[in-house]
Amino acid sequence: MSMGTSRTAVTPLDAEGVRTHPLCGPLDRMPAHYRGPHQLSRDGWVDFADRLERREEIALACAATDANHAVLDVGGGTGELTRAIAEQLGHCTTVEPHGSRVATLRGPEVGRTGTLDVHPGRAEALPFPDESFDAVLAAWILPYVDDLERSAREIARVCDPSHPEAKIVLIGGAPDNELVELLNRTCVPLADEPQDHQGFLLATAAEVLADYGFSRFTVHRTEAALHFPEPDLDGRVAAAAAVLVNFWFEGHPRAEEMRQSIAPALREHFAHRPHAIGDQGAVLIARPHTSTASVL
Ligand SMILES: C[S@@+](CC[C@H](N)C(=O)[O-])C[C@H]1O[C@@H](n2cnc3c(N)ncnc32)[C@H](O)[C@@H]1O
Repeated sequence: MSMGTSRTAVTPLDAEGVRTHPLCGPLDRMPAHYRGPHQLSRDGWVDFADRLERREEIALACAATDANHAVLDVGGGTGELTRAIAEQLGHCTTVEPHGSRVATLRGPEVGRTGTLDVHPGRAEALPFPDESFDAVLAAWILPYVDDLERSAREIARVCDPSHPEAKIVLIGGAPDNELVELLNRTCVPLADEPQDHQGFLLATAAEVLADYGFSRFTVHRTEAALHFPEPDLDGRVAAAAAVLVNFWFEGHPRAEEMRQSIAPALREHFAHRPHAIGDQGAVLIARPHTSTASVL
């Protein structure tokens, strides 16, 4: 689809159409159950976010919500997306469980316009009355929630389906997401954990949203990447090993082994993509079954 603010008419999918959509793959590896939350470390996430460039994803989230008024961003993190929405609409509400990220979200950011309403809290128990928002975003949070289905129910509960622009926007990894593939292949086995499957998260959330009447779906792909400008290959591999391992496994007893295990895969990766690791996204947009709005 085209990026930016133009709207594209796409035939909406139902929840089964989401589950079998190629962007929710790999379809032959769809697990039966939620694997449980990844631990997202404080420092690991900050180093990761510093290297991440995701203009396309943010442009798509902004285009999806440009006709909305009351937008909630669940799990605002360091606030890059929340602030972009606030800049566009003048205001954005966010809820975030992590104390220091709440403090960052509440801090000033020079050169930005729009206000943020920041609430400590979790997706599983959103601190808002029913139907408080006309759009709810949740970007890259589903791998970190304790209860996936409850989180999706709460997201549906606080979104007003009667609003003409009502929508829920969930962002996760595309099946060709390079950094998830690297972690799944080299670190997840050392942690003795089940493989991460981002499509499963989106497809499971879609089923819950459909039960709550948000049953017209579109799925879109976005390009994003972590950048490693270090000129020297050894330095670049060491930096990437640290950033990727710390992202999900900071403080893990086998973290050093993981850094060694991921290094050959990173050398191989940098041989064909020298200074970036892709963080390709799948963006699921759910509208109420009654919606007649144009589909982005
Ligand atoms: C990978 S970050 C993404 C942050 C932000 N949405 C973005 O796209 O930049 C994941 C965020 O989810 C938050 N998180 C973890 N568990 C959560 C939960 N149960 N409910 C809501 N947010 C949660 C984390 O604290 C973190 O800020």
